[in-house]
Amino acid sequence: MTGFEVIIYEKRDGIASITLNRPKALNAYNIKMRDELYEVLGAIKDDPEVDVVILQGAGEKAFCAGADLTEFLTAPPPVFARKARFERDVWGRFLSIEQPVIAALHGYVLGSGIEMSLCCDIRLCSDDARFGLPEPGLGIIPAAGGSQTLPRTIGQAAALEILLSGRWIDAKEALHLKLVNRLMPRADLYLEAEKLAKKIQSYDKKAVRAIKQSVWRGLDLSLNEGLAMESRLGNQLKEGRL
Ligand code: COA
Repeated sequence: MTGFEVIIYEKRDGIASITLNRPKALNAYNIKMRDELYEVLGAIKDDPEVDVVILQGAGEKAFCAGADLTEFLTAPPPVFARKARFERDVWGRFLSIEQPVIAALHGYVLGSGIEMSLCCDIRLCSDDARFGLPEPGLGIIPAAGGSQTLPRTIGQAAALEILLSGRWIDAKEALHLKLVNRLMPRADLYLEAEKLAKKIQSYDKKAVRAIKQSVWRGLDLSLNEGLAMESRLGNQLKEGRL
């Protein structure tokens, strides 16, 4: 797929890579990026050649510095949030993708940047990464799922403190809070993401997708319901019905 303006999409040997590509604006998430991500995620979802996806940001300074404040300031905050969220459900698309998605995070990871990464399955970050949710200071609530995905990832207490105080955290604390899976030097970030993608790719494609599905779907279920769902998925996999 080509013709994108603010993302770069590449596909090589079953590994797809999406790069947020507005480095001069610290890869801030604007309406164009929303539309391009929506399109590319839809294509990935239907592409049998893609086994694993890597999401990263272009440039040295940021994965993504959050919603684009220049567009944001042209409309009242709730209007922008609704527009960003509901006209194209990018977050729903992230969550509906069967292939595992690895976020490779560096530099500023703010607002929608964190929220996007929380819709991914595995988060790797480099030692220069800084995370924050500046929403309370802007008079809004997270518009991309952060109030739901952050507590599910790091627990209610830590999530509430970060969400309410707007306090930024560094890479070490992000690792300590289990916001990210692994921390590494900047130079290794993409290589490690690729290595991990290749490792996942070496396993049975359907088993990998079933594991992913089982975990995400299970988060919305009681333990008993989750165990029943896991067992159904296991049987479907064994019987070649997935
Ligand atoms: N929306 C639009 N443009 C943004 C942006 C955003 N969220 N974040 C950064 N930029 C732009 C800056 O305006 C600047 O553009 P310019 O070179 O044309 O002036 C460029 O990116 C570089 O940013 P700059 O502020 O000069 O870098 P810095 O290293 O001094 O500071 C930040 C980095 C992230 C601390 C600072 O840019 C910032 O606070 N950004 C806003 C973060 C935010 O509130 N996001 C919204 C979350 S809901």
